[in-house]
Amino acid sequence: MNGEPARGSGARRRPLVIAHRGASGVAPENTLLAFHLAVEMGADMIELDVRCSRDGHLVVCHDPDVARTTNGHGQVHELDLDDLRRLDAGYRYSLDGQHYLFRGLGLRIPTLDEVLASLPPHIELNLEVKSPPGDGRTAEGHRIAACLAARCRREPALVERLLVSSFDMAVLRELRQMVPELRTGLCTLPFDPLLRQLERVREAGLTALHPADAALGTDAASLIEQAHRLGITVNVWTVNSVERIAELAALGVDGIITDYPDRAVRTLGGSRESGTPSTWEQSPERGNNRPG
Ligand code: G3P
Ligand code: MG
Repeated sequence: MNGEPARGSGARRRPLVIAHRGASGVAPENTLLAFHLAVEMGADMIELDVRCSRDGHLVVCHDPDVARTTNGHGQVHELDLDDLRRLDAGYRYSLDGQHYLFRGLGLRIPTLDEVLASLPPHIELNLEVKSPPGDGRTAEGHRIAACLAARCRREPALVERLLVSSFDMAVLRELRQMVPELRTGLCTLPFDPLLRQLERVREAGLTALHPADAALGTDAASLIEQAHRLGITVNVWTVNSVERIAELAALGVDGIITDYPDRAVRTLGGSRESGTPSTWEQSPERGNNRPG
């Protein structure tokens, strides 16, 4: 699968709209509400951050600590699922910095199983594996990888629906070994030299590069072309302006990770299959975010 070209469908397919932590621009990040809103807005895929509770459950939370997003405190990997479930995941979210409309609505830190069960099966998921700070390339990331691999073995059909990404190459390598058919993407930071990162992705046999938008310079078109020649898709985070969404689509990126999936869908056209060609469209061939 890896090494095969990222193919277009022949028709001009627009990039995947990937909702960053759900529709996190309008609802508390990484909650079922944010995920369901993203589906309503027409997102193709949902990006969410996966961690492991102390008692071994995969849960969806961006930060290592629950304090920024909930009414609790403590590290996710030091709390049991029951502790995490008591927290209000809408507590800190405010659209205007003054009103906290999502408090007390019963929003919780979801488990991965809950997310999988509650979203329509055609919605793909970009699971970003997070490890606790200082974890390095040690126990916690591997624990998550092992849980994910076990989950995929229990439900092989799931593999098709998942794209697992991480900043941690060791975790991705391990996952690839355990579930070779799984799509895997390396997340990179704004200052990371992208050609070097693309080479790492190729060398590890991953299927995607997930660069920060700020890292894409004037040579972005050539980077994307090289990636596609290698059969590697390029999904860019986090892109919220409609102008930039259109620019990146014109450059040929395969996925746009955004807090506002509605903006991306409006800019790029309704559905990937039947999306009306619009201003972004300049080149005929695009990757399809599928390995092979
Ligand atoms: O997966 C892309 C993006 O989510 C990586 O950064 O910090 O938002 O998880 P972060
Ligand atoms: Mg993330």
